[in-house]
Amino acid sequence: MSERIVGWILFLLFSTSVGYEEENKYTDPNHVSDLCLADDGTDKNQCSKSGRNELTRLDGVEVGHTRLITLDGDKPLHISTLNMKPLIFEIKDFFTEAECEHMINLAKKIGLESSITQQESKGVNGIKIMDSNGDQKLDFTEMKITIEDNFDIYLDDADLRTIYADLGIDPNKNDLVTKEEMSNVTPREMTEYMNYLVKTSPTKKSRFSEQAWIFPDNHKDKLLDKFKRRLKAILGIPPMLVDKHNAIQVVHYGQHGHYNAHQDSGSTNLPCCHLHKNTKCMICRYLTFMVYLNDVEEGGETAFPVANNKTFNQRDFRHSGSTHLNSKCSEANLRLKPERGKAVLWYNHLINEETGWLGELDDFTWHGGCPVTKGTKWIMNRWINASPDKEVDLQL
Ligand code: OGA
Ligand code: FE2
Repeated sequence: MSERIVGWILFLLFSTSVGYEEENKYTDPNHVSDLCLADDGTDKNQCSKSGRNELTRLDGVEVGHTRLITLDGDKPLHISTLNMKPLIFEIKDFFTEAECEHMINLAKKIGLESSITQQESKGVNGIKIMDSNGDQKLDFTEMKITIEDNFDIYLDDADLRTIYADLGIDPNKNDLVTKEEMSNVTPREMTEYMNYLVKTSPTKKSRFSEQAWIFPDNHKDKLLDKFKRRLKAILGIPPMLVDKHNAIQVVHYGQHGHYNAHQDSGSTNLPCCHLHKNTKCMICRYLTFMVYLNDVEEGGETAFPVANNKTFNQRDFRHSGSTHLNSKCSEANLRLKPERGKAVLWYNHLINEETGWLGELDDFTWHGGCPVTKGTKWIMNRWINASPDKEVDLQL
């Protein structure tokens, strides 16, 4: 009995996030990005020539605005503004059909790994209980968030009732779990149950896909070189950020494959993983450049559930269940349709105007992949890492 009670670490978590009434905070580095865009994509980038070692973002101007980039010996690229809040661009036909296939084949050659085989280990020693209102019992919403945060498993009301019955957590069946009722099960038992659930119902995991990592430095490959040149020309950021940390992730979603809403970058004060691999760290990704590598027969849109909302409050958002793109995709404010060869680009962070470098996370970039209902889906992700520390990022 004492193991049961001691095993439960009760963290009463009160959300500190407060909604804010701010329009957008986007900086307007138009002059800088234009300067960069004059570049032909080689390392002689105008940004570094002029000594402007700043993080820039393309100026969206307005939805529908298009700019043209011409690269020596390569095709022209049309960059169109898709959305302003968050700022999202699309580049149709960024890759040809052959280029898409080349990337898929590279990934297959390397070998794809399932996203659901990664074992969750943190649940074994103690589970963080998300009693948001501090009333010493968990209602359905609080229990769902507890399970999401500890096990990365997304459940509905019916799933919870089954679990309560299977584990004997809620004997009086009032859909509320008190501290005492919770101690009917040990964290270990709960973890084992969740592992079993993932094996039998993989779609309940936040991410149901398989992926491969391509490290361009390990391949002599013309397309990977071309990709890098195009990226430098488009982004207009210090080119060394494109040279460093340049892994490409290719993702394959099969039937019912999906990825619940998330942010591609972290918001805590931990050191960035691209600089401190062996310590507790968070992923710091200034921007996301994603390419759809095939046409999806049905579903598989990239959803931005809170795009263009006036305000954002993380607690309300989580509690609304809108992160569950498996069931809530149609409610997302913005959905991008996969189209073979189309690239999309968004900035996960704002710019810190004082440092000219990585600023706060842009709350409106929450996004994910809707379930693939027919066919399969292939994408590739190329993130640009940056940390709040400009000097460190610019070291060779
Ligand atoms: C991701 C992601 C969206 C999609 O891989 O991080 O958000 O449409 N993917 O697959
Ligand atoms: Fe993502």
